[in-house]
Amino acid sequence: MRRLDRHKLSLGLFGANCSGGLAVTTVPERWDASWENNRRLAVMAEEAGLDFMLPLGRWKGYGGETDHNGSSFETLTWASGILAATSRIMAFGTVHVSLFNPVVAAKQIATADLIGQGRFALNLVCGWNRDEFDMLGVDLAEHEDRYEQGQEWLDIVTRAWSCPTAFDYDGKYYRVRHTDIHPKPHKGERPLIVCAGNSPTGRDFAARNADMMFTNLRAGLDDVSETTAALRQMAAGYGRDIGVFTNVAVICRPTRKEAEEYFHYYAVENADADAVENMVEGRGLNKPGQSAEEKAQIRRRAAGGNGAFPVIGCPDEVAATMRRLSEGGVSALAVGLVNYLEHFPYVRDEVLPRLERLGLREG
Ligand SMILES: Cc1cc2nc3c(=O)[nH]c(=O)nc-3n(C[C@H](O)[C@H](O)[C@H](O)COP(=O)(O)O)c2cc1C
Repeated sequence: MRRLDRHKLSLGLFGANCSGGLAVTTVPERWDASWENNRRLAVMAEEAGLDFMLPLGRWKGYGGETDHNGSSFETLTWASGILAATSRIMAFGTVHVSLFNPVVAAKQIATADLIGQGRFALNLVCGWNRDEFDMLGVDLAEHEDRYEQGQEWLDIVTRAWSCPTAFDYDGKYYRVRHTDIHPKPHKGERPLIVCAGNSPTGRDFAARNADMMFTNLRAGLDDVSETTAALRQMAAGYGRDIGVFTNVAVICRPTRKEAEEYFHYYAVENADADAVENMVEGRGLNKPGQSAEEKAQIRRRAAGGNGAFPVIGCPDEVAATMRRLSEGGVSALAVGLVNYLEHFPYVRDEVLPRLERLGLREG
């Protein structure tokens, strides 16, 4: 089985396939998700020893002044390009269950995996933003049904990858006949599977199926161990051992003051307020009874990194927060930066060596 475990704490870049990346901001240096920028970034990340490039699965922008994420690369074709342009780093595809026929997806993934000689990984998502599905003319099933469909989808995909001969499948959502795909993924191995979700059903789905559960740390650092222990326990209930993946927005500057000022500049003063509102509303994060501070915090997180946990500070503080996340049971961080090409070199030069010294990553 494939694992993402070369380092105690795996690291990758998240969201570079979409305009604006994770930061919902109008600042002029916001991310331009051109192919050339993506290719250069993947090569830079690989040379720095990062483990993966993870795309957002987006089909439509969030509106606002920048139409945040309005330009996005489809993730399976993006991953194929990234894998062809690199030789060591892993590239994920973020795949929406109901938008891809499972047999077509199984073949697309096998193709990408062979291009990357075993470096493709799947981030499976069951559906989120209704307007995206409307744009594609596909019904977004009710929440629980999405995961039921997801289970059938994954059963077909994994069988298509492994079954040497034709098979049939009869489910509620899919009925396939004499399904027989070749080539199989690299060396006949199943690609790494990550499933993203926050709800109990989403987590249960990941516990049953994923090698790693991709979850959002909504609470503070003190609650990380409790969250990860609960996720691991759910997986243990199915006799499985899984890793925990989470998303972080990294703002690293020579001093904490500079880092906080930069966060305030891009995520508060220059937040793309309408796009933030559309994101918060679309995800159902507006709940009755929220205090003004809770509302502001949700918006800061949305603008700061698409809901990601903010890691703000000087290199020592950023490395120390990453250590706390690791000690709390997080095995991989999917990192957003306002401008990946401009901001990653500082993280590479200042944070990565500290993580090595802390024993979280090998040199
Ligand atoms: C960390 C994280 C990353 C996600 N990334 C994407 C994404 O790129 N595209 C997408 O459509 N949904 C994404 N999702 C949404 C989930 O797949 C899921 O639809 C959403 O969390 C709602 O389901 P839930 O109520 O089970 O959590 C992400 C969710 C989490 C927690």
